[in-house]
Amino acid sequence: MSTALAQNHLSRPGAREDTKDLGARLPIAPEVKARVRIVVVDDEHTLRESCAAVLRHEGYDVTVCGRGQEALELLKRRAFDIVIADLYMSQVDGLVLLRAALATNHDTIVIVTTGNPSVESSVEALRQGAFDYLPKPFSASHLQVLVGRAAHALLVARESRDQEEDLERGHAHSDKITLLGTAPAFRRAIELARRVAPTDASVLLTGESGCGKEMIAQFIHAHSRRSSRPFVAVNCAALPEGLLESEMFGHRKGAFTGAVRDKPGLLETAHGGTLLLDELVDMPKPIQAKLLRVIQDGVVRRVGSESNDAVVNVRFIAATNSDPEAAVAAGTLREDLYYRLRVVPIEVPPLRERPEDIPLLAEYFLSTYWIRHRSKGAPFPKLTDAAIRALCGNPWRGNVRELQNAIEHVAVITEPGSEIQPEDLRLTGDGEAPAANPASLISTLLEESYHAARDRVIAQFERQYLTWLVNRATGNMSKAARIAGVDRTTLYRLMERHGLQRSPSTGWVTEREVPAEEPADAPPEAGGQVA
Ligand SMILES: Nc1ncnc2c1ncn2[C@@H]1O[C@H](COP(=O)(O)OP(=O)(O)OP(=O)(O)O)[C@@H](O)[C@H]1O
Ligand SMILES: [Mg+2]
Repeated sequence: MSTALAQNHLSRPGAREDTKDLGARLPIAPEVKARVRIVVVDDEHTLRESCAAVLRHEGYDVTVCGRGQEALELLKRRAFDIVIADLYMSQVDGLVLLRAALATNHDTIVIVTTGNPSVESSVEALRQGAFDYLPKPFSASHLQVLVGRAAHALLVARESRDQEEDLERGHAHSDKITLLGTAPAFRRAIELARRVAPTDASVLLTGESGCGKEMIAQFIHAHSRRSSRPFVAVNCAALPEGLLESEMFGHRKGAFTGAVRDKPGLLETAHGGTLLLDELVDMPKPIQAKLLRVIQDGVVRRVGSESNDAVVNVRFIAATNSDPEAAVAAGTLREDLYYRLRVVPIEVPPLRERPEDIPLLAEYFLSTYWIRHRSKGAPFPKLTDAAIRALCGNPWRGNVRELQNAIEHVAVITEPGSEIQPEDLRLTGDGEAPAANPASLISTLLEESYHAARDRVIAQFERQYLTWLVNRATGNMSKAARIAGVDRTTLYRLMERHGLQRSPSTGWVTEREVPAEEPADAPPEAGGQVA
């Protein structure tokens, strides 16, 4: 079915006409569809009834509602899986409904429709947690495809939750990414990542090379409702245009010399999961245009294909170590693609701006590489205070990756049980080692009252100390308590107070998992700021 949904909502000329029959490319079993509860909220009678007719014909369980206020009441009484709401309605508008739907059930998928699409309003809806937006007029087939993708996302979320529950029942723990760092600027980035993870909002990670962008992308995926599906990364700078195109979109047999069979691209591989577009700014413009189409319509056309080959449900994360706004201004990055991908921007601070994390990371890498490269039982070497000071004073232009490499090198060459001195570290930096340790908490003081400063600094110290302590004791809490000179109960209580836990699988300190119903998992507020 590809007819327009109402007389006054004819499809835009040329827009998505070839989406015909695409619904069939995303097969969902009829008995599953019958259990997907959808509510269509629109004050235009014809439009809402036509949408409902199309979706009922598809086999979904559909309810309609003509007034925003009624919809609010309805949402309190019944749980819906998918809410399709008009953005502009008198009295209660779509954004209010969006927030109400997500507040009652965080897993609800909300699609907003709008007859007055603007970049600002659409991005605002996505930022507040909408799955996607549908500009009016739209065709029946476009609605079918979008709702099909939403229903697929719902199924993947259930599958991911079941998998987690299985793991927990078996007392195994899903190996969530361990992101080390207690510096306030880094924690703000992680907190934002944690809050945006359960939504489907696109994230744009910026920051210098090696500062942890890909790790944060993996963290977002691992904490998302897509965690049971693949995390796929594509480096847009690593391949020439033709190869990148076929890598991302796949190709048809005979599309070019060497294309001996049909091959799906990474967009299809990432179906249900997350695709990281690394070095986005280096993506050639023709590929940007093609990608935008996939992001907007979910439709993939392989290289050499005459028709659309697949419908995909993918969450996008982009990363870059250059300035994306400058790329937009220079005309190398499409503005529409940029806005679509930077729904929630996260800036990852360079390592030199969070020197307090250097000792922690260095100790972590030292023990990791020691265990990896040395025979079992070989006594651990120790970083001397002077070595730690030298590490803290190094500029680390290559950020965490450079620190990791420097420590791996030392772990390979140093004698078992030795004391590592500054000269043992192959520091390439041209920065002077400062007289005072920049990791000192004094260097973090702000203009604030004595009591506020004291409380903040003590809390920061306790977090850092606990993380260092438990990692130092490789997760052995009795040993950690012995080193600290406190009993284990005190240690556990302190960790609890700071939201820390010992990862049962690795023994490293990680953030305690926040249960889904706590507000920390709420979708990000406007502007993506962390309170
Ligand atoms: N907070 C962290 N805790 C532990 N390891 C980290 C952390 N941040 C980064 N790393 C490690 O540092 C290395 C570089 O990180 P990553 O690849 O995520 O950086 P990036 O910002 O994507 O770099 P590039 O811009 O060069 O692609 C990785 O091996 C990663 O495991
Ligand atoms: Mg990277």
